[in-house]
Amino acid sequence: MDKMRIRGGIALRGTVEVSGSKNAALPILISTLLTPEACRFERVPDLEDIQTTLKLLGQMGAAITPALDQNRVTVKCDAISSQEAPYDLVRKMRASVVVLGPLLARFGRAKVSLPGGCAIGARPINFHLAGLERLGAAVELDQGYVIAEAKRLTGAKIVFEFPSVGATENVLMAAVLARGESVLENCAREPEIVDLARALRAMGAEIEGEGTEVIRVQGKAALHGCDYRIMGDRIEAGTYLAAGLATGGSVKVNGLSPTYMDSILAKFEDAGAKVVREADGVQVIAVTRPRPIDIKTLPYPGFPTDMQAQFMAAMAVAEGASVITETIFENRFMHVPELIRLGADITVRGNSALIRGRPKLLGAPLMATDLRASASLVLGGLCAAGETVVNRIYHLDRGYESMEKKLASLGADIERIS
Ligand code: UD1
Repeated sequence: MDKMRIRGGIALRGTVEVSGSKNAALPILISTLLTPEACRFERVPDLEDIQTTLKLLGQMGAAITPALDQNRVTVKCDAISSQEAPYDLVRKMRASVVVLGPLLARFGRAKVSLPGGCAIGARPINFHLAGLERLGAAVELDQGYVIAEAKRLTGAKIVFEFPSVGATENVLMAAVLARGESVLENCAREPEIVDLARALRAMGAEIEGEGTEVIRVQGKAALHGCDYRIMGDRIEAGTYLAAGLATGGSVKVNGLSPTYMDSILAKFEDAGAKVVREADGVQVIAVTRPRPIDIKTLPYPGFPTDMQAQFMAAMAVAEGASVITETIFENRFMHVPELIRLGADITVRGNSALIRGRPKLLGAPLMATDLRASASLVLGGLCAAGETVVNRIYHLDRGYESMEKKLASLGADIERIS
């Protein structure tokens, strides 16, 4: 199993190009189930989760030719022979449950394994199922699988109990082929949902209001193929910028609009860094040790839960005490005991972590637990004096394309060891 060896204490400086967004690419690739025509994508990040998605589509009968190469892939779902997402794939990648909506909309049937618990919490799919039922699906549970059926979905008004990203995507993909109009309220407003809506529109869907709480969809009888370029990854970008902040350096990311990063960039400014926004990139210049800041994770446009762990690593070396409160997931502080192994002073009470900044961390062997927690351990290692080895980095490979190369290009002393 691969590990990452880091010799920390170097201020990172330079520019990195961000990859395509993982969380946009996943539902967009899955949306190809809505049409028999070929869909060509650019800027698809080459990540474990993307390979899992392509494997899932392939198992259902999708033709993936040409295969993913140089961040391009073509998917054609003209010969889907199975409408099932099996346990072994859903367990590996929870986001697979968003096949429910498109399968149901186009084929009238879907059988998808319930995801079960995951490292960062229970993560049920009740909001997804309630939304699909409102569109006319009959949903039942059988031996750990959700089986959903409908002759043809019918447009409806759906009010989400919570602005869930996955539920909004699932129901949106179902509604584009439903009969008549659907009005989705209390939708998640994440930029990745905006990107999904744009891709669906490129396939002929009629959608308005994405990025706001209310999305209106006029259902179509069929969708067509598309050419689509995935948006840049704001979480990957934020991670490299946080690495610059934590190490007292200056990092620029290119290839995404900083407007999608407002809540993240505001926290860099609160921490004393200078933020330079450009049309297609952003730079964070850290002048001193970070100032302490308080963060509360919230649905977009609030501060993203996917950036909380990385900021915690930076706050571990801040000049004072910070509080990070996690409101989206119930168990998302698994990086804390590992950061403590580097000498960080962190106390968790309920869903809040009190981080008393220390002038210095010291390298240690660490164990990665989930994707963003792993990124936070890498950041901790980059700050720490001496050597840090992060074990189980397959979690990182799920969400960061060539992380060690990008960090090395910023001057980090980092290598992957098998
Ligand atoms: C997506 C992102 C993930 C991010 C999260 C929140 C992808 C592939 N993943 O996950 O990186 O951290 O948004 O921004 O895009 N919930 C329910 N019932 C449901 C659905 C959700 O109770 O039916 C709860 C979840 O357990 C969680 C909260 O709602 O506590 C938010 O979940 P949601 O927005 O759905 O996140 P995901 O789509 O799973």
